[in-house]
Amino acid sequence: MATEEEERKYSAEEEHKIKLMQQEVDIVKRMSKIKHKIAVMSGKGGVGKSTIAVNLAAAFAKKGYKTGIMDVDIHGPNVPMMLGVEGKHLIFTANGIQPVESEGIKIMSVGFFLTSLDSPVVWRGPRKTGVIKQFLSEVNWGDLDVLIIDNPPGTGDEPLTILQSVPLDGVVLVTTPQAVVQEDVRKGINLVLDSKVPIIGIIENMSGFICPHCHEEVPIFGSGNTEEMAKKMDVHFLGKLPLNVETPVTSDTGIPIVIKDPESDIAIKISEIADYIEKTVIKKK
Ligand SMILES: Nc1ncnc2c1ncn2[C@@H]1O[C@H](COP(=O)(O)OP(=O)(O)OP(=O)(O)O)[C@@H](O)[C@H]1O
Ligand SMILES: [Mg+2]
Ligand SMILES: [Zn+2]
Repeated sequence: MATEEEERKYSAEEEHKIKLMQQEVDIVKRMSKIKHKIAVMSGKGGVGKSTIAVNLAAAFAKKGYKTGIMDVDIHGPNVPMMLGVEGKHLIFTANGIQPVESEGIKIMSVGFFLTSLDSPVVWRGPRKTGVIKQFLSEVNWGDLDVLIIDNPPGTGDEPLTILQSVPLDGVVLVTTPQAVVQEDVRKGINLVLDSKVPIIGIIENMSGFICPHCHEEVPIFGSGNTEEMAKKMDVHFLGKLPLNVETPVTSDTGIPIVIKDPESDIAIKISEIADYIEKTVIKKK
């Protein structure tokens, strides 16, 4: 015979299990309303994932697609600042949590859940997975054409949860030309390959700087050959994005460079990559 104590524990466990099952059902429901889901990842930090995610989202919004961006970087959520919506308060409705909107993009970030902008988040594995699943199950994106998901660096809980829980169309990987960066990025590529989610391709960011004085290209972050690495790993090479002095400024002021300065070298390249993704991922289905 089970004691009262045991019975209570049992029913609490059952209840928790049912809640988790319901969450999985909700995730499937919410995600089924989003036509295309694309994750931006890298095994490495600071290579430009968030910059690329925000600008790809802006490029798709500009093309007229109903676009959203989800920032699952729990320790360094930068998307709100990059889109000028930092510190916005969330609205909870019977239909779920409403995303914030800017530049025609629906935005959801763990940053909106943080009360103080400077407080570090010290959540560990299961808690992080829980927050991401809550995003997936409770955010009321409505019907979207494209959702871009910005991931934190590394091969930890966040990208793993995204790879396992979201029926992704594919992953865009980001590296720089530096050999030590590429070493970590290869781990990121392997994580995606193991998950069987398709890789759309890899971008080499911060790839050379055109000196404004003599117009020579300076390889500030090295000249490792991403194209060759991609070929070896059988991954499509999406192209190079140059180092561009305006990019950090546009990030800090909350207007993506594809909107702020669409004629800049980097904006043109990002738009070309968006065209490629449109052709190979969005129009294919
Ligand atoms: N092509 C570029 N030219 C100049 N600056 C860039 C370029 N790409 C990104 N940056 C700048 O580099 C910094 C890092 O970029 P970003 O935050 O997008 O990287 P990340 O990979 O998302 O970093 P994290 O791993 O911390 O999430 C930012 O200040 C951004 O403005
Ligand atoms: Mg980032
Ligand atoms: Zn020069």
